[in-house]
Amino acid sequence: MEPIKVLDKTFEEFIPGQQIKETVARMAAELDRDLWGKDPLFLAILNGAFMFAGDLFQQIQMPSRISFVKMASYLGTGSTGKVDQLIGLQESIAGQTVVILEDIIDSGLTITKLLEHLKSLQPADVKVVSLLFKPDAFKGNFHIDYLGMEIPNDFVVGYGLDYNGYGRNYRDIYKLKAE
Ligand code: IMP
Ligand code: MG
Repeated sequence: MEPIKVLDKTFEEFIPGQQIKETVARMAAELDRDLWGKDPLFLAILNGAFMFAGDLFQQIQMPSRISFVKMASYLGTGSTGKVDQLIGLQESIAGQTVVILEDIIDSGLTITKLLEHLKSLQPADVKVVSLLFKPDAFKGNFHIDYLGMEIPNDFVVGYGLDYNGYGRNYRDIYKLKAE
C-alpha cells in the first residue's frame, strides 16, 4: 500500500482494512455474548467513532439502540474557565446499560469526562469499548472493557480518525511517517 498525503503530512499504512474488519467482528461477538438481554444503549462518540460505530453496530445481533454524542468544551463565564458538556443525548439512561463506543483512547481524558457526566445520570452499568488504545499515553484510571488493539504512541488517521479534520475517509489506518 502506498503512503498517503493528508494536508502537509505523509502517512504510511499501519492497520489494513481487513484486519480492522476482523477486529470489529470479534468485538461485536463479544458484546453480543456478554450483553444479550440487557437492552444496551450504545453511545458513539462523534466525530471520530462514526465509522467504527457504524461497522460494529451492523454486526450486533442483540436488540439494542445506538445514539451519537459529542463531548464539547466551551469557555464558561467568569472564573469557571473551560467547561465540558455532553451534547446529543436524548434518551434517559437511568437504570440502563450504556456502552460507550470510541475510536481511540489516548490520554483517556475524553472518556474520563464522559464517564463523570454519565454516572451523574445514574445508568445501571457503563461499558467502555474502543477500537484503538495507546497505553504509553494513557493517564486515566478507568477500565477498557472491550478493546480492538493496542498501538504505539504514533499519530494515526483513517477509518474515522482525522488529522485537522481530514483523512477520515480511508478504510485502512495509517500512521504518521517519520521524516
Ligand atoms: P484522549 O482524550 O486523549 O483519550 O483522546 C481521545 C480523542 O483524541 C480521540 O477520540 C480522538 O478523536 C483523538 N485522538 C487521539 N489520538 C489520535 C490519533 O492518533 N489520531 C487521530 N485522533 C486522535
Ligand atoms: Mg474521538
